[in-house]
Amino acid sequence: MGKSLTRKIIESHFVSGDMTPGKEIFIKVDQTLTHDINAVMTYLAFEAIGLDRVRTECSVSYLDHNLLYVDNKTPDDHIYLQSAAKKFGVYVSRPGNGICHTVHVSRFGVPGKVSMGGDSHTPHGGAIGMLCIGVGGMDVATAMTGVPMRLTMPRVVRVNLTGKLRPGCNSKEVILEMLRRVTIKGGLGNVYEYVGPAVAEMEIPARATIANMGAEMGATTSIFPADAQVKRFLAAQGRPEAYTELLPDEDAEYDETIDINLSKLEPLIACPHQPDNVMPLHQAEKKRVQQVFIGSCTNASYADIAKAALVFKGHHVNEDVSCTCAVSSKQVYRQLMRDGYVEMLLDAGVRLLEIACGPCCAIGQTPATDGVAVRTSNRNFKGRAGNPTAKIYLVSPESAAATAIMGTFATAEDIMGENVKILDSIHEPDQYDIDDSMILPPLSPEEAAKVEIVRGPNIKFLPVPEPPQETLDAPISLKARDNVSTDDITPASAEFSSMRSNIPLMSQYCYHRYDPEFAARAKEMGQSVIIGGENYGQGSSREHAAINPMYLGVKAVIAKSIARIHKGNLVNHGVIPMLFEDGADYDRLEQTDELHIDNLREQIAARRVQITDKTKGFSFWAKLELTDKEIEVVLNGGQLRTLKKQLEAEKEA
Ligand code: F3S
Repeated sequence: MGKSLTRKIIESHFVSGDMTPGKEIFIKVDQTLTHDINAVMTYLAFEAIGLDRVRTECSVSYLDHNLLYVDNKTPDDHIYLQSAAKKFGVYVSRPGNGICHTVHVSRFGVPGKVSMGGDSHTPHGGAIGMLCIGVGGMDVATAMTGVPMRLTMPRVVRVNLTGKLRPGCNSKEVILEMLRRVTIKGGLGNVYEYVGPAVAEMEIPARATIANMGAEMGATTSIFPADAQVKRFLAAQGRPEAYTELLPDEDAEYDETIDINLSKLEPLIACPHQPDNVMPLHQAEKKRVQQVFIGSCTNASYADIAKAALVFKGHHVNEDVSCTCAVSSKQVYRQLMRDGYVEMLLDAGVRLLEIACGPCCAIGQTPATDGVAVRTSNRNFKGRAGNPTAKIYLVSPESAAATAIMGTFATAEDIMGENVKILDSIHEPDQYDIDDSMILPPLSPEEAAKVEIVRGPNIKFLPVPEPPQETLDAPISLKARDNVSTDDITPASAEFSSMRSNIPLMSQYCYHRYDPEFAARAKEMGQSVIIGGENYGQGSSREHAAINPMYLGVKAVIAKSIARIHKGNLVNHGVIPMLFEDGADYDRLEQTDELHIDNLREQIAARRVQITDKTKGFSFWAKLELTDKEIEVVLNGGQLRTLKKQLEAEKEA
């Protein structure tokens, strides 16, 4: 049997392990990326490791999320990040250059490479046949040291795309349909490899929408072949030499196949408060819409914005709607200006925002109380827009523009009628406007040695956990429901994002919107355990969702299931991730129950832990679904201690 593209790339980067799905492997990582609101912890960890320079082919630090600078904190962070990048041989993409994933695939992406990014939407780069995996910041710091990265060997799912999207439909419809079928946790342990005749017609940013938002299925990543479309894209980026054809074998073996006929898709909408709550847009209950946002790494490409602009042409944003648009990169913005689309947006009353993530992660444009917000971004969790009373709906840029005009859910066809066919004439440029003046290349080792890292008052220390003791006595500080997201644990917004370099401050707001008493309660308890439902820690890769509870004394999370990236973050930061052997035990536990565990270290090593609820007088079992390396990291008290040991051992050898 032939090989999938995923298998080929993993084989070419394989260092050790067992390539059976579900088993632990170690692979070489070629590239890393970080962004401003997650990266300070990554670079503090890299400093603590003690290497002079990154050992990857290319590492890039993007300053792209929080550009509002409402006080000193974010500029402090940006200055720190820029100086750390200079010190350690890292590229910097300066504020205003664009959103990390868009810029990375355009200016650094190379088919067949492996990239790890401190952001859950890193799989965006799968659009050009790279294996791109979102991980926590400590994992990025590890990858920057050049040590092989641990990964669970994925199952590979073939997604066979046939047919042709109707005019007015976007590749957003494809990923929303995938989410409808697979659900937000159904992708765990899988790589989704897109093939089939419709893929050949799909341009790179359209593929990127799918690969990017595949993160919402909990997947390891998503990938497309490096074919003629990739060749054209890289040539248009002025980098034809980066292209290598990379296809799955014709008789490639897959673990599962999903078929989607694009001709049968209609405009879809993800309703509050999960991205898999998907239905045909015309079947959604009509609501008055207060806010529309067109942007994000998922849907702010040239073709996305140009199509939205054409829907607006001759119309105006409804008087009850605030409609904003944030283009994904300076490159795309220039092209849209030149081709007249920016003017169309302005004429329609669209408010053009800075080139950044912005509203996608609640950095500006918070909806009003109980407001209905329609967005082209990728997440609609409660509170994701900065206001837990808001209701977020996710759609394509075409549907977002139509909705902004109508003031209620609408499609491009509702506005344009037969003329909707015009949208099919929009394609990505044959030649992008290339200007890398906002990318600072790494300094030479000699120049880098002279750089002083600048640490403003917002940059606090990186907390390092202690290894687990033999006995644990700890009460339950929180019993959380199913699908708790990292936004629930560490709220998104300009204000909270700017605290991410300051754990003593940020930890005071841990679970702030979910349970405002949590931080004080956990601190008062000294050490405690969190109980979680299904899919605990879904969403962003933000490791603060592990660091803050750890800093407040949380020693373990016992849940029905834990999302992939969050589980890795808990391990890295010394919080023991356990799963109920019998989910019914979840119902028997209550907040403040006193738990007791004997022989904890031995039981961790055995991957099975008996826990006694001293308050209620019963015992139950939890298991650890962790690889050998992850068990070692937990017992060591986190990844930083483990990595330092490993590098010291290498030095002595
Ligand atoms: Fe930024 Fe939102 Fe993407 S925060 S990286 S635009 S998911």
